[in-house]
Amino acid sequence: MKLSAPQIKAHKRRLGAAPLVMVTAYDEPGARLAAAAGVDILLVGDSLANVVLGHEDTLHVSVEDMCHHVRAVAAAKPDVHVVADMPWLSYHLSVADSVRNAALLIRSGADSVKLEGGRVRREVVRAILDAEIPVMAHLGLTPQSVMAFGGFKVQAKTREAAEQLQRDAKILQDEGVFAVVIEGVPSVVGTRITEALDIPTIGIGAGPDTDGQVLVFHDLLGLAKTKPAKFVRQYADLNSLITEAIAHYASDVRSGEFPGPDETYANPEELTN
Ligand code: KIV
Repeated sequence: MKLSAPQIKAHKRRLGAAPLVMVTAYDEPGARLAAAAGVDILLVGDSLANVVLGHEDTLHVSVEDMCHHVRAVAAAKPDVHVVADMPWLSYHLSVADSVRNAALLIRSGADSVKLEGGRVRREVVRAILDAEIPVMAHLGLTPQSVMAFGGFKVQAKTREAAEQLQRDAKILQDEGVFAVVIEGVPSVVGTRITEALDIPTIGIGAGPDTDGQVLVFHDLLGLAKTKPAKFVRQYADLNSLITEAIAHYASDVRSGEFPGPDETYANPEELTN
């Protein structure tokens, strides 16, 4: 059953809810398989840039790229809430532009949008919510800030930074976001923000106490090109499985094993006489 944004908003573990399961998806097969596996939320992440398009960071995808992949995910007709990432620069230039870009993602098939940043995004978040579009926030190691952070570094490691992050989360909750992703922080920070908020927290590298977890599809399936981050648990090794399968196919073609009689159309009599 597809969860609505208000249903997700009410989903707190301390109220007895099970942890939310979110995974990224970028295309029809990924969305279909993750939906069949029973996830609660599909995220068309701007990690599209890294894991599908081969870039080093998430700064290289546009609204058009994201819409293209939201449409592919929507084509699976998953009975699952679909969140679409607002890519870098799609909500930084003007409030009107931000609302328009959020609407493009919704019209492509998303049920809500996610954007990165704390109190500086307040005005944009309010305007998108005013346009009746649910917003998920994203705090901590926000990948679109990689240049400002000087690399992919664990955030909120000092008391001051941790308190600031918690205040940002509270500000965005008060604006009306329905959930917040917390990425790359010490687990105590994930725990405290989760305790402090009435909306669910969804962690990625934020420890075990958040109200949900999210992983990137390619990381959890062993399909990524680089060694995954410390917080990833890899549940399969599809890199090896796929390489072996394609090598087997190549070997069968070269040896004449493929195609065999089962993979060949029968010849009509009039063509063979
Ligand atoms: O783009 C993405 O995959 C994300 C997750 C890491 C939360 O934002």
